[in-house]
Amino acid sequence: NNHDFGIVGLGVMGRNLLLNIADHGFSVVGMARDPKKASTLLSESEDHMQVSATTDPASFVRQLKSPRAIMLLVPAGKPVDETIESLLPHLEKGDIIVDGGNSYFTDTDRRFIELQAKGIHFFGMGVSGGENGARFGPSMMPGGDKKAYERLRPIFEAIAAKVNGEPCVTYLGNGSAGNYVKMIHNGIEYGIMQLIAETYDLMRKVLGIKDSLIQETFSSWNNTNLKSFLIEITGKVLNKFDGDTDVRLINVISDVARAKGTGKWTSQNAMDLQVPVPTIDAAVNIRDLSKYKDQRRQASSKLIWESTAHFTDDQTEILNTLHDALYFSIINTYAQGMAQLQVASEHYDYGLNLEDISRIWRGGCIIRSVSLEDFRQAYIRDPRLPNLLLDDKIGSDLSDKQKSARSTIKLAVDAGVAVPAFMSALSYFDAYRSAELPTNLIQAQRDYFGAHLYERTDSTGTYHSIWD
Ligand code: 6PG
Repeated sequence: NNHDFGIVGLGVMGRNLLLNIADHGFSVVGMARDPKKASTLLSESEDHMQVSATTDPASFVRQLKSPRAIMLLVPAGKPVDETIESLLPHLEKGDIIVDGGNSYFTDTDRRFIELQAKGIHFFGMGVSGGENGARFGPSMMPGGDKKAYERLRPIFEAIAAKVNGEPCVTYLGNGSAGNYVKMIHNGIEYGIMQLIAETYDLMRKVLGIKDSLIQETFSSWNNTNLKSFLIEITGKVLNKFDGDTDVRLINVISDVARAKGTGKWTSQNAMDLQVPVPTIDAAVNIRDLSKYKDQRRQASSKLIWESTAHFTDDQTEILNTLHDALYFSIINTYAQGMAQLQVASEHYDYGLNLEDISRIWRGGCIIRSVSLEDFRQAYIRDPRLPNLLLDDKIGSDLSDKQKSARSTIKLAVDAGVAVPAFMSALSYFDAYRSAELPTNLIQAQRDYFGAHLYERTDSTGTYHSIWD
């Protein structure tokens, strides 16, 4: 009964996190129902590590020092509930369970309340960074009971990614705050991935740039203000050849996209909270549309458009325009996600601190980028900033780059290439900077056909008119 930490679920994520914790001098016990997974863990652990493994919940819990700290890395949904059920008879008041999966935040709220009644502290914690992050430094987003977090803090701070010595983990807020923040992280991830894919599409289909230059361009963009994990891996992905052939692997990968659903959750919840996140919506839409391969094939020979796109022969100039358009749109996507966090924090009483979130997203996670430090500075200037676009520095930077976004979209429109993420980012920017929207007409129409009333600009109260 002397282990510092326990992990249930010894798939790649669970094993890698466990080895990461053991690497930092903590003793860890792992549990998996499947004895093969337990023995894989033991074979992967190194001599200096204090690691044990079991398939039995009672023995697992017995090996932990109290208050016990247990993390679950099992698939979201039923497996989480089943695992909690199997542990509960062996746990005591004050013990802690951390769910490290991509659980839906309302499931976390339910579990939090159920376990609170039994004196068990429950945490929902987003873990980002994939297999490699788990092993060598993820970004972690824990939410739950603040005091109980102190038991976890030394371990999580030790294993997290570091940026300038600062760990990419911090207590984020009440209840399901951690899962909620991870959900938004994934929504932003969807948006940025779609924007990068659209940029690649313009390069190959409209500008006719050859594969090698597309690859070099993305690699070189990782040395600019676009520097980020997703740009970096795009350069690497495009550089991979299919086995021994001279065919780039990307050119033989199916365009039917899959998704586990966290991006969709972001969009669904954004609608519930009435916070627009159109670039994330566009990203979800295109993954969905990608599934209709047969229909797209038929339509491609029926719905014809001959490109009327004209562009300069100066390839450097046009790639710079694309670069700035991508940067502009990526920042807009972060702004949408962060705005959703700001509203959700109030709505769900999470008590989120967006400076902290920007800080722990600077390293370890999938959406890490140099821009996160700029956002952090913006939230230091104004912790309650409702939208990053309202920050003077970020706003003027985007105002300077909007021209590139506009000309990139014009190019796509003339060529007939779909760029919904680019378009939605620019429309978001244009609508957001409109002191007047045409929604006055919508109000009038509603009142016309349904007597739904409207408000006036020149006086208070609600009004109804006889329109005919
Ligand atoms: C991360 C990723 C991770 C993941 C998603 C992919 O932060 O490490 O976001 O959570 O790879 O499960 O999501 P989709 O399957 O929805 O694309």
